[in-house]
Amino acid sequence: MNRREWIKNSMLAGAAFVLVPNLKGLASLDKPKAEDTVSASQFGDDFIWGTATAAYQVEGAPGVDGKQVSIWDSFTHKRKKIKDRSNGDVADDFYHSYPSDLQLAKEIGAKAFRFSISWTRVVKGIDGQINIKGIEFYDRVINKCIELGLEPWIMLYHWDLPQSVEDLGGWANRKVVALFANYVDVCTRAFGDRVRNWMIINEPLGYTAFGYMTGAHAPGRKNLGAFLAAVHHTALCQAEGGRIVRRNVKDANIGTSFSCSPVDPYTDSEKDRKAAKSLDALLNRLFLEPCLGMGYPVAELPILKRMAKYIMEDDLQNLAFDFDFVGLQNYFRVVCRHNSFVPFIHASEVPAKDRQVPMNELLCEINPDAMYRMIKQFDAYPRVKRIIISENGVCVPDLLDRGRVHDKQRIEYLESYLKKILQAKNEGAKVGGYFVWSLLDNFEWSEGFRPRFGLIYVDYATQKRFWKDSAFWYRDFLKR
Ligand code: NOJ
Repeated sequence: MNRREWIKNSMLAGAAFVLVPNLKGLASLDKPKAEDTVSASQFGDDFIWGTATAAYQVEGAPGVDGKQVSIWDSFTHKRKKIKDRSNGDVADDFYHSYPSDLQLAKEIGAKAFRFSISWTRVVKGIDGQINIKGIEFYDRVINKCIELGLEPWIMLYHWDLPQSVEDLGGWANRKVVALFANYVDVCTRAFGDRVRNWMIINEPLGYTAFGYMTGAHAPGRKNLGAFLAAVHHTALCQAEGGRIVRRNVKDANIGTSFSCSPVDPYTDSEKDRKAAKSLDALLNRLFLEPCLGMGYPVAELPILKRMAKYIMEDDLQNLAFDFDFVGLQNYFRVVCRHNSFVPFIHASEVPAKDRQVPMNELLCEINPDAMYRMIKQFDAYPRVKRIIISENGVCVPDLLDRGRVHDKQRIEYLESYLKKILQAKNEGAKVGGYFVWSLLDNFEWSEGFRPRFGLIYVDYATQKRFWKDSAFWYRDFLKR
């Protein structure tokens, strides 16, 4: 096979979209035939359907009711690292608008609502004291969910570390393990009487790599040693958090979530295939395998040997925890090639825009087959008991037009990914739930507010909410 054929075969297989010149969006597919239409009922009665948000991205209200400063509060203000120079000070003002926002989630018809707790609202600094007002806020959110018939799914850590913990060295300092354990203990004692579903850590690679290695995310550090230490301490917290929830919450359903993307080599050369293996180990195995009792993927990522100095006696056993489910978060596929200039992994991504493939607004490749492949990859681990798609969604340019947003591309995206999830499920994969990212447009980290992932459009100037066509679509899909 020559290179051109190889690229064509491997890149376009499974893609359900056609690239539109100038990235204006995705071309619409032919109208689906009735028998091609996917509906919630095909997934079975016990499948969990939800929408998701995260504290810093929606809440706003910094400093309110005793909230401490988080690394995202400091990063967005001091470092000017955010593309549109924005910050999460107001965001969706969910802190005040949660009753009507939860009402929207109910009207959409999903039965589960995922949100995260901000460590900095419920615990006062490093001495671990409880902030009652912060606890009361999440009490109100949880009670409102229950009143509306939305099952609360709590994510304990969605990237907003207390600045006081970062001042000690953050995830790179082993002290974080005890501080995190105290935080999890506080949350589970406070809310464990009403909340069964707990996730420990959201996308650990995101905040360790961008926060401690590339500096693109809070706290903005660029240091290999700090990154490796942060990886190990995170992996310890992931398991320790699980143990604490198990101890404190009766009948808990416990998971933790991972970002993941299938990685394909750009060509079938040995070097590119090796590069793809290393990147797969980094993107898809680094945090999952330790909690399954398999240790770190050192063979494919020899740089991890340098982590040895942070690993203490008994740590390797303590990395494992018997999770009830694994949270799988897939948005795109990755293609990479060998690159000897990239230290340690010798691989660099071949951007989607150079490959003539469909993309989202952040220029990541849209590829529904990627979801199918990741479900299969995770499902193949004997110790993975159940998979929940804890995030999936897309940012496309949304236009508010007389109160409506005609986001046909998002509907096509969701439909095509859901079909692939159903295919994997029908083939026996243990996938049991799906959460759309996101209920609302919100603060997309270093990208600011431009990328919109919500089913509900947020006009940030007025804080008004508008149903996008995709919200109506998801509602009808759930009803069907
Ligand atoms: C991953 C993160 O968990 C979430 O915070 C982010 O907004 C979405 N994916 C979209 O990029």
